[in-house]
Amino acid sequence: MFRYFGSKASTSSQISQLISSLTPTGSVADAFGGLGTIGAELRLNGFRVTTCDVLTFPHTFQIARIEGKSTLPFSKLRESMDIQSMEQISSILNMSYAPNSWLVNEYAVERLFFTRENAVRIAGAWHQIKRWHEEGLLNRRERALLIASLLNSMDAVANTAGTYYAYLKSFHRKAVKTFNFEWFPVRGGQYVGHALLGDALSCLAGKNFDVLYLDPPYNNRNYASYYHLPESMSTLKQPKTNYERASGVPIHPHPASINIRDGMTVEYIEKLAAQVGWKWLIVHYCDGALIPLETMRCALKKFGSLNEFTLPALGYTTTKSTRTIHHHVFVVSASAN
Ligand SMILES: C[S@@+](CC[C@H](N)C(=O)[O-])C[C@H]1O[C@@H](n2cnc3c(N)ncnc32)[C@H](O)[C@@H]1O
Repeated sequence: MFRYFGSKASTSSQISQLISSLTPTGSVADAFGGLGTIGAELRLNGFRVTTCDVLTFPHTFQIARIEGKSTLPFSKLRESMDIQSMEQISSILNMSYAPNSWLVNEYAVERLFFTRENAVRIAGAWHQIKRWHEEGLLNRRERALLIASLLNSMDAVANTAGTYYAYLKSFHRKAVKTFNFEWFPVRGGQYVGHALLGDALSCLAGKNFDVLYLDPPYNNRNYASYYHLPESMSTLKQPKTNYERASGVPIHPHPASINIRDGMTVEYIEKLAAQVGWKWLIVHYCDGALIPLETMRCALKKFGSLNEFTLPALGYTTTKSTRTIHHHVFVVSASAN
């Protein structure tokens, strides 16, 4: 699975169980949805899920996981290319090569994010998806499933310690494996959810849900910079790269960087709690993060009766060893107000 800062993959089933104990069915908004991990688990367990993220690349994963299915019709692509199955689509992508692509030049020749052989294949698949998109052969869910699958397959051979902010000096074991496009395993659920792109407050203010789940950024790392390459690729547009920067980040700062900085503050959490309708508010946070737990506690108490839990989970690490960190989960019940 794509490695993502703050991913809740190791606690998603515990969060889903917690939410099921509050309300066995109903609607949940995951305002800082990331790769849609919590949303996908809740959808699988019968909830009506709305997710949101300010970046296009996590949003693309969210469309695939929250709105989509593992098997999609690809009707126009099938008609235009006489394709019979999704296996045939992945075969076409695995046989596509683009040796002269910007992806190869910028991220394999100038910077060692991939071996040249892998970059030629990754670029081949990306340009093929872009062509299908430009020819109008893909709908929203099909395009999202293709891009999420490509990025997930690419991350498995990226020569990085986890993010795209830097590459390793020599090729890592995983980076020398041959790139292979594989379909992202979407688990689906009873209901089709909604994946929203934009600032959480702008997208969700004035809407009502049974549960509002908040998993905000908890350190100063700017997701837009750390994941600049998947972000650019998910837009299906070639970025203007800053040649002076070793990371290959685009020249212009991502417009969402300001929303991401806002999302790190307790004032933003308070605005979300006040402007989105909910019966239960869950805030998933970490000890030692940007907002001290006591500050969060005082802020949340104003909105209802507060309960707190700690969950042990495998932490994100850039080394080989795994690290156990303690997640702090605040649960606010509005009914006790
Ligand atoms: C801790 S991560 C969420 C991880 C997610 N729960 C998962 O398991 O993949 C925080 C996410 O919030 C997004 N984000 C930050 N500020 C935001 C804002 N103001 N509005 C919407 N999304 C925001 C970031 O892009 C990032 O994907």
